[in-house]
Amino acid sequence: PRVAVVFGGRSSEHGVSVVTAASVLRAIDREKYDVLPIGITAEGRWALTADEPERMAITDRRMPTVEQVADQDGAVLLPVDPASREVVYTEAGAVPKALGEVDVVLPLLHGPYGEDGTLQGLLELSGVPYVGAGVLASAVGMDKEYMKRIFTSFGLKVGPYTVIRPREWERDAAAARRKVTDFAAVHGWPLFVKPARAGSSIGISRVEGPEDLDEAIGAARAHDPKVLVEALLTGREIECGVLEFADGPRASVPAEIPPATAHDFYDFEAKYIDSAEGIVPAPLTAEQTEQVQRLAVDAFEAASCEGLVRADFFLLDSGEFVINEINTMPGFTPISMYPRMWQESGVGYTELIDLLLQAALR
Ligand code: DAL
Ligand code: MG
Repeated sequence: PRVAVVFGGRSSEHGVSVVTAASVLRAIDREKYDVLPIGITAEGRWALTADEPERMAITDRRMPTVEQVADQDGAVLLPVDPASREVVYTEAGAVPKALGEVDVVLPLLHGPYGEDGTLQGLLELSGVPYVGAGVLASAVGMDKEYMKRIFTSFGLKVGPYTVIRPREWERDAAAARRKVTDFAAVHGWPLFVKPARAGSSIGISRVEGPEDLDEAIGAARAHDPKVLVEALLTGREIECGVLEFADGPRASVPAEIPPATAHDFYDFEAKYIDSAEGIVPAPLTAEQTEQVQRLAVDAFEAASCEGLVRADFFLLDSGEFVINEINTMPGFTPISMYPRMWQESGVGYTELIDLLLQAALR
């Protein structure tokens, strides 16, 4: 089958997506799949080299090229021909015709305009099968407020939170600030202030007291006018992967993210530079493992996911699991948690890509 691997994109997670794509393009079974890499620049322009994917290169002034990513890894990730680096960009906003001519699309995009249902809507309209969550599940997985509302309504436990909606802040910032300090009066400081729709811990601040609130809200609003405020949960961070097999979704062995030492919390750098530090399998009792696996599949079903999801939990000191979030297109390099959890569950990286493509083609 012909596969379009779409990567990059307009969100602040562009760089993570490029790293993921470089790994996938290196590992995908070329005997089985004909690969057409398609990049989207940070400005939102689509790019490919006509009929010559091996010459694909995507450059962007703000982001690394795939070749640079390859260089960083000390290995050639992509068979890029340096003699012919010509990139064919589409007209601004236009989607390459080739996207509609493949058998399946692998959207390796994180964050808004890729993981949030917008691209999925485009693919639905074009009638091309694609890997992963559909429009609704993608949108739910991107919006941390609605994600919590869906989980709660399906009986999954979430931590305490409050939301500052765009109009609330714009109309009366003082009242919005008060809402947060009232929340802190109940749940205590510190609080975590996040963009409601972003990923990779981008725009997140840990706020120790009211004096740091405005700066944190500003940092979150730089990524999303809707801001989510969460209480600190003390416990262990446990993640679990879900993958859709022919007979339905199954959970991987869970992983534990050890408490960050040099970082205030599990921030961007910790997540992508030190992601190899995640412990797989998580040292849990058999009962806890089974419980978190069941909850991960419940979360997959609650949000109507397809293909894959990484569900992130806190195991509270009380012994209770609370769901923090799901990622419908989790980081996907060989050292990312999702592929590592499946590796440990007996599904290697190349096979994992194959299973995802098969699920989409079914
Ligand atoms: N949003 C990033 C890619 C992750 O969750 O892995
Ligand atoms: Mg996320």
